[in-house]
Amino acid sequence: MNDKLALPVGTTLDRFIMRKQEAFPYATGELSQLLRDIALAAKIVNREINRAGLLDVTGAYGQQNVQGEDQQKLDVIANIRFIRALRNGGEVCTIISEEEDDIIQTGNIGGKYIVAIDPLDGSSNIDVNVSIGTIFSIYRRVSEQGADGTMEDCLQKGVRQVAAGYVIYGSSTMMVYTTGHGVNGFTYDPSLGEFFLSHPNITSPETGSTYSINEGSFNSFPEGVKQYVNYCKESGYSARYIGSLVADFHRNLLKGGIYIYPATAKAPNGKLRLMYECNALAFIVEQAGGKATNGYQRIMEMQPTELHQRCPLIIGSTEMVDKVEEYLKSEV
Ligand code: AHG
Ligand code: MN
Ligand code: MN
Ligand code: MN
Repeated sequence: MNDKLALPVGTTLDRFIMRKQEAFPYATGELSQLLRDIALAAKIVNREINRAGLLDVTGAYGQQNVQGEDQQKLDVIANIRFIRALRNGGEVCTIISEEEDDIIQTGNIGGKYIVAIDPLDGSSNIDVNVSIGTIFSIYRRVSEQGADGTMEDCLQKGVRQVAAGYVIYGSSTMMVYTTGHGVNGFTYDPSLGEFFLSHPNITSPETGSTYSINEGSFNSFPEGVKQYVNYCKESGYSARYIGSLVADFHRNLLKGGIYIYPATAKAPNGKLRLMYECNALAFIVEQAGGKATNGYQRIMEMQPTELHQRCPLIIGSTEMVDKVEEYLKSEV
């Protein structure tokens, strides 16, 4: 997106997408349409979430997903809604979803794009009315159009993303995304059924004094992470951990801060998934001036080998991420 074209707060998401696309004479509009398809699904999921207590959509679904997690009903509902919107939109040939063991072929064999999605992030918070989210990554297929997408299409490095974003279903519902030309945030007005530009050109503070990590696993953290947590305490930082990655990430993006999910005894490779959590947020944070690593390597440079592979995630304000890496590299 050409960030020279400054659009005013209050611009609708549709108009924003259209005006930014006009700035690219060769753009043929498929990516624009795909972003609209995602926004439509987000509106539908938002409505289900906001009425969760009134409908029978809270609680466990009664099955485990490929992650070994007990799927929540809203995990399954959000998964169905996003897959349906992407299939009907026609621009996506293949989908990677947290809630699906294998890749999903949409039947759109002419579709140019692959989407990796976490349909509902922060599932443990659904029933207690705490912010949750959706996270998505968009890649251009590398295989020829005219057939289903391939595993090679799906296992691309994060640097090959053409767009990434998230929806946060919080005190208000927002969609935040990048296409590689800055990060913009849109707030949803349910009375009008529209997203409006509310946070143009988001840039993240170089540093911050908030750290987000589940200290319940402190004893099994890598030594360097333990040292960094102690450094935060000695520095009088604030601990903020919501248990929904999108919510912790969004606060740190706007205010400055760091989110860490390191290797632990329970999650020896970390808990978060490279394809539909780490890469998407890494693209966004880098576009906003922040940083995302696994402690030793830039997240977006990691070569995926499996759909649901996990990796440690250290993401947020650049100076804070650098500090963690310093401690990890000085580990004896
Ligand atoms: P998901 O609900 O998509 O499976 O993701 C949950 C993730 C992330 O949102 C959150 O920050 C983290 O799990 C919380 O994990 P712990 O409960 O182990 O701290
Ligand atoms: Mn899950
Ligand atoms: Mn998640
Ligand atoms: Mn999820």
